[in-house]
Amino acid sequence: MKTLGTPLSPHATKVMLLGSGELGKEVLIALQRLGVETIAVDRYANAPGQQVAHHARTITMSDPLQLKALIEAERPDLVVPEIEAIATPMLEELEAAGTVRVIPTARAARLTMDREGIRRLAAETLGLPTSPYVFCDSLAELQAAIDSKIGYPCIVKPVMSSSGKGQSKISGPADVQTAWDYAMAGGRVSHGRVIVEGFIDFDYEITQLTVRALGADGKVETHFCDPIGHIQVSGDYVESWQPHPMPLPAIQRSREIAKAVTDNLGGQGLFGVELFVKGDEVWFSEVSPRPHDTGMVTLCTQWQNEFELHARAILGLPVNTALKSPGASAVIYGGVDAQGIVFDGVAEALRVPNTDIRLFGKPESFVKRRMGVALAFDADVEVARSRAKQAAALVKPRAV
Ligand SMILES: Nc1ncnc2c1ncn2[C@@H]1O[C@H](COP(=O)(O)OP(=O)(O)O)[C@@H](O)[C@H]1O
Ligand SMILES: [Mg+2]
Repeated sequence: MKTLGTPLSPHATKVMLLGSGELGKEVLIALQRLGVETIAVDRYANAPGQQVAHHARTITMSDPLQLKALIEAERPDLVVPEIEAIATPMLEELEAAGTVRVIPTARAARLTMDREGIRRLAAETLGLPTSPYVFCDSLAELQAAIDSKIGYPCIVKPVMSSSGKGQSKISGPADVQTAWDYAMAGGRVSHGRVIVEGFIDFDYEITQLTVRALGADGKVETHFCDPIGHIQVSGDYVESWQPHPMPLPAIQRSREIAKAVTDNLGGQGLFGVELFVKGDEVWFSEVSPRPHDTGMVTLCTQWQNEFELHARAILGLPVNTALKSPGASAVIYGGVDAQGIVFDGVAEALRVPNTDIRLFGKPESFVKRRMGVALAFDADVEVARSRAKQAAALVKPRAV
């Protein structure tokens, strides 16, 4: 992008977000601040990002014809996927035809839309260390894969799922049937395919935020943020902090792996590379070619948070990944199944020193839906962690 325009004018720079949840909302806010005209797309009306964009559109993004019709009608300069469940072959078609530029690339969106494309790329094409794995289409195949190659304990996940949905750990033969049934019920589309992975007994896991942005010479440069530590409960992030203390060889190895994957995926933008670490050993787990949920901590820890980094990188602007202060984030769950809930205790939460809160504005709450996040900064990352958790616990969602 050589110049930036004026929104709502003939020379606007137009960006379309495919998916407008809490992560998309922050990307949209960052784009708004640069005077970009924004189009927020989601599968339901009044999604968080739609509340802060110039235009809101509601379509089924996994339907190739609906997606094509919308992109051709709006003609954005950039299409920015925020979720995985998108008709990515159609994005590839539109990109190949020169209709639109997809962030980071349409191929990256396709490869990361399910677990198979990215896992095969990382392990088989790039030769990166990953957990041992087998893809299976039936209970019998799953049992055979465990018996012949993977062993116990292991983890089963639907090929198409996120946030731990349909994912479970198998400790012994008695768990196999249950894990299979759970995966079949929890996948995004019920095409019955799972990945079974050997369980990695890691010391900790991190997200290595990695940015591909243009340098002064117009060539892509790779920038790394400080490692983000996080805790997942049933495959869903509940707490994250930055920086996570790591030995230098593990940091170097993490960045090598992140560079290899993101070089291959290409394009411009921010990526969340998930890695498992034990001593100096590092395994690749998965990658999001977009801001990562655990990276919400950067809203209070970096001069440019992950959403601003993404916005800048995709527009061809320079980035700065420097840390401002150590800090932490803790998720605020809905706790109730209800629409139009209210939040008690926000003032009490914000009285916890050096904290901040984001409430995403989702029209409907579920017990386990992420409705907000508490943030805290402190020179001591452990103090920040406990304050973020304290603030999150003080916010009480309630049905009315
Ligand atoms: N092979 C594994 N060994 C140990 N833990 C794992 C393994 N795979 C996943 N996990 C745990 O489950 C979490 C979610 O798995 P992940 O593959 O990232 O699914 P999702 O796409 O839903 O985020 C990981 O962050 C990690 O804590
Ligand atoms: Mg993950």
